This record gives sequence, structure tokens and C-alpha cells, in this order.
Amino acid sequence: MATTLRRISDEPHIQVPKDKLIEGTRLTFNVFIKDGSMLVPFFNNGMVFTRFATQVLNERKIADVFVSPDEREALQSYLSQNRDKKTSEYEELKVFKEYTHFKEQVYQVDRALLVSGTDINFGLYLLNRFSLVPIVEATESAPAKIPDKIIEAHGDIVIKKQDLPLYNEYLKHFKIPDGLPDVEKSKIKAISIKENSKVLMKDLLDDPRSGEKMKQSAAVVNSMVDTMLENPEAIYNLLSLRSYDYYTYTHCVNVAVMSVGLANGIGMKRSEVEKLGVGAMLHDVGKSAIPHDILNKQGKLTEQEYRIIQSHVIEGEKLLKGHPVFPQEAMPAVTQHHEKLTGRGYPNRLKGSELHIYGRISSIADCYDALTTRRPYKQAFTPFYALSLIAKETGDYDPELLKVFIRMLGKIK
Ligand SMILES: [Fe+2]
Ligand SMILES: [Fe+2]
Repeated sequence: MATTLRRISDEPHIQVPKDKLIEGTRLTFNVFIKDGSMLVPFFNNGMVFTRFATQVLNERKIADVFVSPDEREALQSYLSQNRDKKTSEYEELKVFKEYTHFKEQVYQVDRALLVSGTDINFGLYLLNRFSLVPIVEATESAPAKIPDKIIEAHGDIVIKKQDLPLYNEYLKHFKIPDGLPDVEKSKIKAISIKENSKVLMKDLLDDPRSGEKMKQSAAVVNSMVDTMLENPEAIYNLLSLRSYDYYTYTHCVNVAVMSVGLANGIGMKRSEVEKLGVGAMLHDVGKSAIPHDILNKQGKLTEQEYRIIQSHVIEGEKLLKGHPVFPQEAMPAVTQHHEKLTGRGYPNRLKGSELHIYGRISSIADCYDALTTRRPYKQAFTPFYALSLIAKETGDYDPELLKVFIRMLGKIK
């Protein structure tokens, strides 16, 4: 068994001029930037350093970035390898494509459910430098125990995509450890609902017509609503706030959680909240019909590519219309999640009162989640900054709903 848990060092971070980071190369260390007196994460080990990242640094007038002394070796070998390298657009695209392909082979799991000492029959890896660094090497015939301190591992913990059914089994039999305080218990319960929803969404995106999976999604939305009605604070555990990267399935679950939270916040009837929740969970299901290369393209899209991406809304409607299990009343949460009250949205440029309450809610949740998630070509905004950006788009979103939304999420740091 190999572990790669990061040691926290007391030595000061290494200051590196930002020009030493070459666009289109994969960084083999984590990069921090200074925000006041704090160092905040900016780019993760294994990600492709993009033109967009340079732009962000330029806009913020940042000349130097910082790297942990623990990663000195990785930094030095990167700097020596790339000493004379100039960015080529082709290189950048090539590396980015590789990265996207690589990401599709893994599935990100929540470490809170990886209880040390538990037997597992699938491998756990740290997504690291474009490769998988084993944390636990286990198979069905040779199970192994989850080690201590997995919670401290730096970066996303992933499993191989083909092990997803085994992880699903693990979740089904997952028991909350005895002797935990009630607060911890309800936290873990919420996280396990979230993990179940993520696996389900991943399956649904792979097989969007499955009636069985659709039924199960209504069931997990139900448990979400129960959990949040019992304890509104559970929303923070149901959201994947610390995911380092973007995964469509996580995004779908986050949008469902925030939509349900917002609907509860305005006192919507339970039966309505459930329908909205299912719609919000499936709002991007049409992305399963969009070619991956376009969906994941870095940088500026051509007019035609942009139109193809936008068609995910219509594709979603096509998939769900008349579906025997999908509640048809939930459709506006899907068809209107990119509409804006000002009429600037798509696909139908609906305006004001033409937007259904489900669409008003899912569009706010969708936009917020997109802003706060990191993508290979953009950093994540902090919750505070994302909320202030949305609030500035006066007229696009329902002001009453926005107030409740900001009150609900304003506490996230
Ligand atoms: Fe969308
Ligand atoms: Fe979305």
C-alpha cells in the first residue's frame, strides 16, 4: 500500500515569477497566490496551465506565485524542463485534450465517507500530475483497509471509472461509525446522500433513458428534501464545495441541492419542491448528447460550437418529454435554466413572467455553481464574489429569490 499524504511544512513558500509558468504545460505542483496576507490555492497539481490563467494573473496584477517547499523538487524539474519552452497553441490544445480524456477515466469520491479501517475492494487514488497515485491498492479478490489520515490528502481522491459499481455497493452498505456526536452523524448522513446522488447522476448521464435510474433520482431528491427540512444547515454538507475540479455529475447534484434549499427558503409546498428537485438534478442531462470535444473545449468557442453547446437544453427536453418516470411538471427547471428575466437567455429568450418559478430557481443555482467551480481553463470564484457577481446582473434573476439565495449561501466562506 502506498500513501501520499502531504506533509505540512513550516518553511516559507517559494516565490516564483509567473512568467516561468508556460501556457499549455501541465503543472506538477500546486500553485498559490497572495491574497492580502494569506496564500490561497490558485492552480492544482496536474492541471494544464492555460492562457486564461495568465489573463487572470495579469488582470489581478500578480507578478509572482508561490509553491510549497514540499514541492521544491517537482518545481525545479518543471523549471529545468521548460526553461526555453515557448507556448504553442497546438501544444496547449493537445495537452488539454489529453487531460480531459484522462479525467473521464476516473470518478471523484468524497473522503468523508472513507472511514479508516474499513475494508474496500476497489483502489483509491490521488489525482496527481496527470497520473493516479495509489493510496490504497485493492481489488475484489484482495480487499484492503482504508488507511488513517486519508482526510488530509491534498487533491481529489478518485477511483477508476470501472470500479464505480463497487463504490456504489460500498455506499449502499456504508454505516455511520458508532460513537460520533450527533452533529457529525447528520453531516455524514448528508454526505452519503450526496455521494449516492452523484453516482446516480453519473449513471444517468451515461444512460439518460434509464427509467430505473430516473426512479432512483426521485428517491434521492426525497431524502435531500427530508434532510434539509430537518436541518437547513445540512445544505452545506450536501454541496460539494471542496471539489478541486469540475465534474458534470457533481454540478447536477449541487444545482439540485441549492434549488431545493431555495425552494424551502421561500416556503414552497413539499410536493412542488420534490418535482423541482428532480428537474434541477436533471437540468443538464442533455449534455450527454453533446460531443465531448466541444463540451470540454478550452478557450473561445466558434459561433457554431457555442450553438451546439446551447442545444443541450433542447436535447434535455427531448430526452425527458413524455418519459414515463420523469414528472412532466418539472420540465421548466430543465428547459429554462439558461433563461434570464431580461430576455437575454436561451433557448427561447423568455422574459419576466414567462419564466416559471422552477426556471427562476434553477437558473440562479446553475449560474452560482458554474461560477464557484474550478475548470481547467478558469479558477473558481469565492462564494462571496460569485454572489456579488450574480447580484450585479440586475434584472436577469428574480430579486426576491436572490435575496433568499444570498441569505442561504452568504455564510459559506
Ligand atoms: Fe446547462
Ligand atoms: Fe448546468
